[in-house]
Amino acid sequence: MNAAIRAATLISRAAGVEVYGVERGYKGLVEGAFVPLGATDVQGILRDGGTILGSARCKEFHERAVRDRARAQLSERGIEGLVVIGGNGSLTGALALGDPAEAGPRAPHVVGIPASIDNDIGLTGLSIGVDTAVNTIVEAVDKIADTATAHDRTFIVEVMGRDCGYLAMTSAIACGADLALFPEANRTEPEVVDAIVDAVAAVRSRSRRNRRVIVIKAEGVHVGVDRLKAAVDVRLRERLGADDLGSIETRVTVLGHVVRGGRPSAFDRLLGSRLANVATRALLAGKTHKMAAWMPPMELPEEVGARSTADPYCWLVDLAAALAETDSLLHGHSPLARWRAGVFDDIEDALQL
Ligand code: F6P
Repeated sequence: MNAAIRAATLISRAAGVEVYGVERGYKGLVEGAFVPLGATDVQGILRDGGTILGSARCKEFHERAVRDRARAQLSERGIEGLVVIGGNGSLTGALALGDPAEAGPRAPHVVGIPASIDNDIGLTGLSIGVDTAVNTIVEAVDKIADTATAHDRTFIVEVMGRDCGYLAMTSAIACGADLALFPEANRTEPEVVDAIVDAVAAVRSRSRRNRRVIVIKAEGVHVGVDRLKAAVDVRLRERLGADDLGSIETRVTVLGHVVRGGRPSAFDRLLGSRLANVATRALLAGKTHKMAAWMPPMELPEEVGARSTADPYCWLVDLAAALAETDSLLHGHSPLARWRAGVFDDIEDALQL
């Protein structure tokens, strides 16, 4: 996100426009926590994780009166446009903030930049933070795999992804994991247990030398890892029998917030800079209710989005359409969500051979 803040600042300043950062998200916007931003303020920040402006939850932003206060803060300072960097909640807030039905013809212009490690924002191939998070998971799982291999163990590694299994899916492919568990598959708890037991049985039937099993589980699969481990152990003993009792060991690791922090990858720095370039130029050109997107994973009709003239890999899409697609992605209805889950049906079939 710092790369996006830096690019938005530098591009706006170069166009002769004053820039203010808003500290602590919408909470800071309502309280008037504005800080002027210039070239020296954003120097060297793109290598730091998180955001120099901080972040905060602001449930009250759902209320019209609170948004009115935020708009008053903006107009008091003569601020006409806002670049909002964030996930579903932040972008939904941006849509309402700039809604002319609520704010009249002088509504602030808003352009969003998708930032969420979960990659659950619609109409963009990637959001800021995803690449760094996948790299962090792969590095951690590679390390765990050394112990798993040496001791013939099964590891269940839980990664973030509240409602979306993208991180679990992609890191499972990148790590060569034996199984990915994600909410889009809609497995019941016994089915989750069976899937792990099947993966262990498949590995053990293939080779006597490599008996390590790596399972990557998204946080959104709502079975606690300890409970899962206990159920898997019981089923493994039933299925694989007494001979294997001594050699079956299941361990769990929850990566948690480790996945969300750290130095951004080079790709994420570029992505943040490039999306901010597109978003800022759109705002400077007088556009509103848009979101900068990275290579949308579907055909977009003209009224939903167009390729950016500032960057051939980026698109400028309708913010409301992006949020509608986010909703259907999160509820598993969108063709993209079904495609993602379907890819794993094929992969699992291949892994069971
Ligand atoms: O929304 C992104 C996310 O990383 C989720 O995957 C995770 O459940 C959540 O944030 C954690 O948020 P918090 O730090 O507020 O618990």
